[in-house]
Amino acid sequence: MLARPDIETELVDVADFSLPQGDYGTDIKDQFPQWRDTIVGADGLVIVAPEYNHGYPGALKSVLDLLLKEYIHKAVALVGVSAGPWGGTRVIEALVPMVRELGLAVTFTDLQFPTVQSKFDETGKLLDDAYEKRVRGFLDELVWMSRTLKWGRANLPSKHHPSI
Ligand SMILES: Cc1cc2nc3c(=O)[nH]c(=O)nc-3n(C[C@H](O)[C@H](O)[C@H](O)COP(=O)(O)O)c2cc1C
Repeated sequence: MLARPDIETELVDVADFSLPQGDYGTDIKDQFPQWRDTIVGADGLVIVAPEYNHGYPGALKSVLDLLLKEYIHKAVALVGVSAGPWGGTRVIEALVPMVRELGLAVTFTDLQFPTVQSKFDETGKLLDDAYEKRVRGFLDELVWMSRTLKWGRANLPSKHHPSI
């Protein structure tokens, strides 16, 4: 759909994490070194979240909870996905205060996929051309925020991002 040579991506699916029962958070992060390496190496994140009862899935929260200082002063852009007509908006609003507590800086250009069952064909092709412009604006903003914060992390001292 959209070639972005200025962005190098890595796809992480929370369904691939075998999270232990009964223990959560950074205490168990050593069990997921690849996730830590991914976040340490990233300048920006895109979180794609299906809406579950007006919130985000517990598995997504458990994976995000594995790390903390690794996220600080990095950019995040949010994508909401839902079966209903409004859900894209509600899960994004639910994510904002949570990712803020992780130290992530949220862009103001979201992407929403309400009634997601009608948005793609069986091969996964997006059916609505209007998304091309939306996705471009969404990614432009994430790239700007990511570059700005990368410069800030490298050049402006902060007690929040010593070498990690
Ligand atoms: C437990 C659960 C709760 C859901 N709650 C909502 C909801 O509140 N609003 C909505 O529009 N869709 C809701 N959905 C539909 C999902 O958002 C939709 O199926 C999803 O975006 C696709 O993700 P999935 O592959 O995990 O089902 C819910 C789905 C599940 C499984």
